[in-house]
Amino acid sequence: MSAPAACSPSRFATEILSADPESFSFAPRDPAESPLLRPVLQVKDSPKAQQDHASLLRAVELLRSNEPVAIPTETVYGLAANALSPEAVAKIFLAKGRPSDNPLIIHVSSIEMLLSILPSELSHRIPQVYQALIDRHWPGPLTILVPRSSKIPKQVTGGHDTVAVRFPSHPIARALISLCGFPLAAPSANTSGRPSPTLAGHVFADLQGRIPLIIDGGSCDSGVESTVLDGFATPPAILRPGGITYEQIKAFEGMENVRVYRRDYVDEALEAAPTTPGMKYRHYSPNVEVVLFEVSSTEGHLPNEAVLSKRRAMVQTEITKRLESSPGPIGVLRTWFAAGDTEGGFRYDGNVAELALGAESDPHKVAQELFKGLRELEERKVAYIFVEGIGEKGEGLAVMNRLRKAASTVVSV
Ligand code: TXA
Ligand code: MG
Repeated sequence: MSAPAACSPSRFATEILSADPESFSFAPRDPAESPLLRPVLQVKDSPKAQQDHASLLRAVELLRSNEPVAIPTETVYGLAANALSPEAVAKIFLAKGRPSDNPLIIHVSSIEMLLSILPSELSHRIPQVYQALIDRHWPGPLTILVPRSSKIPKQVTGGHDTVAVRFPSHPIARALISLCGFPLAAPSANTSGRPSPTLAGHVFADLQGRIPLIIDGGSCDSGVESTVLDGFATPPAILRPGGITYEQIKAFEGMENVRVYRRDYVDEALEAAPTTPGMKYRHYSPNVEVVLFEVSSTEGHLPNEAVLSKRRAMVQTEITKRLESSPGPIGVLRTWFAAGDTEGGFRYDGNVAELALGAESDPHKVAQELFKGLRELEERKVAYIFVEGIGEKGEGLAVMNRLRKAASTVVSV
């Protein structure tokens, strides 16, 4: 299926309104019930919070008129629109230049809202396979696949009979969904194929003129998108690794045999349909060739020092080789500058622009900085981006999943 024209004329003077996540909190409607069943939004009693509330109400007004609005979530910025309106959902695809057969995630702000969109045979009950996971990891970066009911327009799921749902933890995302009173469909708020946005400025760079409003809630905590879990598959399958790790999911009853797509198995039918992240379309790529240096390690372990030193030496050799004919500086995304470093940073010597994301032992930090790092080196007009791959422990699995899709060349160390 072809992508909608990515170069339709600008329609909007894109506005950016900032809001502090701390202005909003949530309380159970009834102290006796689960806090997630029907939470009530509370706005702090301060002039700043009232102003933030007014900014969210402006977003709600647009969302109610079926316009898309970019919003912060704890993973990446999302381009949100009314999930129950085919007209609103179509505008997401248009603004992003997203192929219409690539399904969207629906965001809810209460368990009651989740139940309201399940098919009638499932309503009033969360599928058993997800109950414990939801109790532990919602709100948060865990997306579950459930059967699609007729309440969800076909445009949301690209015609598939399952729909992806998550309950974000970001106070601004939660507040907006509850103020709207309907679920929001939201893919990452980037131009299709580009690195996902973790700052409002990234959204503006990609979508200015294409959307009316961006709510700026600061930087996203997780930095990579949510984990997409198909609990109905046998055995259950992680279709996209993300903020909730393989190790965390595997610890649940019924999830002992969970498999990770592409790492543990590949499905020909899935490869042909883009029901899962990065299978059919280009993903996460800056407009610069990305070369990934991939390290191997035993499952659940970090690569050893010898492997890491070899990786660094191979990157150095490649830099020397390419610099002779490189049309510009070479960008390098490193884990750290020197063994033992725990802080990131930037260095430039006229030939090589290096960005340190975070320590090898801290994949959460590397995940947080990853998309920002790719965009930053691209802005510095580097000719190539070399990336030091990390071990697949914890969020390292999500980091490597995104990097393999962004890279046009993968070098095994
Ligand atoms: O963290 C996130 O999940 C972010 C924030 C904004 O919530 N959203 C996000 O959406 O990453 P998007 O559209 O960029 O990625 C959603 C992925 C898609 O690649 C899609 O293939 C997969 O989820 N997906 C959605 N519905 C699906 C379905 N019914 N079956 C299988 N995969 C599905
Ligand atoms: Mg995306």
